[in-house]
Amino acid sequence: MKPVQRILLCGFMGCGKTSVGQALAFRLKWDFLDTDAMIEKREGIPIPQIFQTKGEEYFRQAETAAAAAVARRKNVVVSTGGGFVMRDENLSALLAYHPDATGIVYLDCDFDTCYQRICTSSRPLVVSNTKEQLREIFQSRADRYRSVSTIQVHNDSLVSDAVEEIIRQLPI
Ligand code: S3P
Repeated sequence: MKPVQRILLCGFMGCGKTSVGQALAFRLKWDFLDTDAMIEKREGIPIPQIFQTKGEEYFRQAETAAAAAVARRKNVVVSTGGGFVMRDENLSALLAYHPDATGIVYLDCDFDTCYQRICTSSRPLVVSNTKEQLREIFQSRADRYRSVSTIQVHNDSLVSDAVEEIIRQLPI
């Protein structure tokens, strides 16, 4: 594999994409971007409000626009929302320019740990689904996260361990 000049983090809500992404970017002295934060900034309202007033489909299209906005960037760690890699068009938009220089990391974490971290949050999918429904979404997405990823790293203990494991596995 060619040297990686950009890293995308994917995985379920609560797997730690943002905290690991920030720590990884700091460690590599790269920029950090979060597609959810980009969307909130562009829309001027938080994600729950985007879902409420404009609907999920609008949010999903905003994710594609965020993907296109980072397509040319290098030396950047991109943390994505849990549904981001589910859509082919998001990956195609993001990989339009440097596909071989992009490492995709599946930040894997067991459902109960994710659930503990997200259960009191205002994330739209969390407030509109029961724990068992969320478990089903988790299970239905796992294969996709795995299949789009270059590497898979567990994040069930320290953020710094996940960061070092990513650096160990990817040719940076
Ligand atoms: C979503 C995950 C959220 C956010 C939105 C939808 C999903 O991001 O993009 O609420 O479909 O899993 P996090 O994974 O950062 O919580």
